[in-house]
Amino acid sequence: MPTPESQCPITTDKKISIAPSVMCADLCNLETDIRELEKSGINLLHFDLMDAHFVPNMPIGLALIEQLRQKTDCAFDIHLMVQNNDFFVEAVANIGVQQVAVHAESAIHLDRTLSVIQGHGIKAGVALNPATPLSAIAYVIDRLDFVLIMTVNPGFAGQKLVPATLQKISDCQAFLNERSVNLPIEVDGNVSFENIPKMVAAGADILVGGSSSVFHKSGSRAENIQQIHQVISVGLAKRGV
Ligand code: DX5
Ligand code: ZN
Repeated sequence: MPTPESQCPITTDKKISIAPSVMCADLCNLETDIRELEKSGINLLHFDLMDAHFVPNMPIGLALIEQLRQKTDCAFDIHLMVQNNDFFVEAVANIGVQQVAVHAESAIHLDRTLSVIQGHGIKAGVALNPATPLSAIAYVIDRLDFVLIMTVNPGFAGQKLVPATLQKISDCQAFLNERSVNLPIEVDGNVSFENIPKMVAAGADILVGGSSSVFHKSGSRAENIQQIHQVISVGLAKRGV
């Protein structure tokens, strides 16, 4: 099992990471999927942990994450979409995960929750719904390890991008630059082959790959990841890197 500090692939060097969204995998044959992802160079897995209250869905639970922890060395990226953040932070910290994002819209004591996450040696991020302004992170920016920009309304795979969120990724990059803060920007929701170049050009560093890319029905996991790398290059060229 990777230790939180040593194996987390989140960096600030602007290298793009792909984080496959486990809720979009073949949940009846998950180990087969994980092995194929690992062979394609994946070292970060995204888990959407929902409670059917903050969002009206509950695709995967703690037991699945705990069992998978024993099966792979990939770093675990937990996206909490829950009302009771403190309960879930403790639960995933006990399992051994590397990064956790809490929603600004649900974390009442956001600063304290981020500090609890980091107290466990876990990277802490804030997730923002499409309609939530960037100002929600202004006064916790000094303790953040990453920002998660939702590009769909959270809760379900297979949705269409909320168009304004592309501008929001650029605005987030500018917001960080203005404050001389170098943090990775994670993007989640309809991170498709078509949208990836625009997202990367706008400043996205961590791409959550769900049904519209890594698990797209048109190809195998390996073929899809290869295609993602190609479209990332297109985005990086537009970004001028
Ligand atoms: C949505 C989830 C995403 C989802 C993305 O609430 O946070 O991780 O799996 O999948 P697609 O690519 O289908 O939008
Ligand atoms: Zn997610």
